[in-house]
Amino acid sequence: MTVSDLAIVILAAGKGTRMKSSLHKVLHPLGGRPMLHHLMDTLVPMKPSKKVIVVGAGKEQVEASVGNQADIVVQEPQLGTGHAVQVTKAQLSDFNGDVLILYGDVPLISEETMQKMIDIRSDQNAAVVVLGFTPVDAKSYGRLKVSDSGNLDAIIEYKDASSEERAIKLCNSGIMAMNSEHMFTLLDALDNDNAAKEFYLTDVVKLANQKGLNCAVVEAEEQEVMGINSRSELAEAEAEFQNKARQNFMDEGVTLSDPSSVYFSHDTKIGQDVTIGPNVFFGPGVSVADNVTINAFCHIEGATIGEGSSVGPFARLRPAAELGKGVKVGNFVEIKKARIEDGAKVSHLSYIGDARVGKNANIGAGTITCNYDGYFKYHTDIGDGAFIGSNSALVAPVNIGAGAIVGAGSVITSVVDSDALAIGRPKQRALGGWATKFRQTQQTKKDKK
Ligand code: UD1
Ligand code: CA
Repeated sequence: MTVSDLAIVILAAGKGTRMKSSLHKVLHPLGGRPMLHHLMDTLVPMKPSKKVIVVGAGKEQVEASVGNQADIVVQEPQLGTGHAVQVTKAQLSDFNGDVLILYGDVPLISEETMQKMIDIRSDQNAAVVVLGFTPVDAKSYGRLKVSDSGNLDAIIEYKDASSEERAIKLCNSGIMAMNSEHMFTLLDALDNDNAAKEFYLTDVVKLANQKGLNCAVVEAEEQEVMGINSRSELAEAEAEFQNKARQNFMDEGVTLSDPSSVYFSHDTKIGQDVTIGPNVFFGPGVSVADNVTINAFCHIEGATIGEGSSVGPFARLRPAAELGKGVKVGNFVEIKKARIEDGAKVSHLSYIGDARVGKNANIGAGTITCNYDGYFKYHTDIGDGAFIGSNSALVAPVNIGAGAIVGAGSVITSVVDSDALAIGRPKQRALGGWATKFRQTQQTKKDKK
């Protein structure tokens, strides 16, 4: 089998009106990543030699988001899906091979499905391969007319379809593979003599058949070709993305006690024998090693969690929180841009930001690193094995040496040497019998009234 060169065209010139958004539709995120990038990521193993994105309004936004990963072509005015592919002519003029046409708002398509389309294109020497699906509700999708021999004879747009044609259950997802040999000849022959007065990409099927060329259909599951036109469809696609992610993690050895309440990002990495309780949210950039327990109600983003650590319940790990091995971060603890080294414990009600907590150090309940003066951020360094008493305020920049002890309720503003005891609070005074006298005086006053 000869592997032919591959080019990708992503259509994204539609107005996206139903999103009611100033953000381009294809940049709305799924699992914390713009839907367009989900598509581009899925394409990576297929090694396309060319990627062209067709945009209408919002070119700058798309350009800023994809950088030099693709060519961007503006389609103005938008005269239909066929016209949208026509405008890529200059980019594809010297391209020889298969061209896969995708929709920027259909981001969940799998590599396997796309590969299958390309394989069938060459195996059957088809001029056009269309990705079909059988939705529960066929709505106004284009209908696929397939002959008894399995050839795709035509795609009938809903607006142009007769009632018998509307009864066809097999629908057009819009995704298509063609070969450069015939592609622009077929596109050049399109007209807009139809109900929508648009240049339909779907008409290439009819035109190819007229030339005696083969056309074929590959079928996909409905969820895979789900299109996103509104916020509620975005939410459905997000649910689909999350369900897949949950299933994948469970398949890889992660226990989810209530899968439907755990939310992952596109890049979440989780090791084996990790247990995750209910209502846990993973924002982008999280990596969790083996044998970690994450208890209920944690919000974790941009954080690394080392082997055997335990987090939560109700913990918040913010960007650049790095937990070593066997670390404990307990309830109502927030960690930001801080390295908590192996075996260290921050068990209750603390804020640790812009800091290092050395190995096996123990941070008492209510400890705060005061890292900000309203203008700048400062670092707190806590040495290995240090013990910080409860309710201490560590005013950064400040260093606490290895093995040092800080008395509870201290406000620490200057360096604490290794193995020293630092107490930064008023010395305790006790006045013997004072309380008894106080009560007597007050009671007498009250009785006189
Ligand atoms: C299209 C198909 C229909 C299919 C349906 C699947 C045609 C004629 N019809 O219909 O058979 O069932 O998709 O959702 O192709 N776009 C452009 N430029 C344009 C018009 C559209 O880039 O001038 C892009 C849109 O951004 C979108 C995609 O093409 O990503 C589909 O456009 P849309 O208007 O939604 O197509 P439908 O009429 O729904
Ligand atoms: Ca559509």
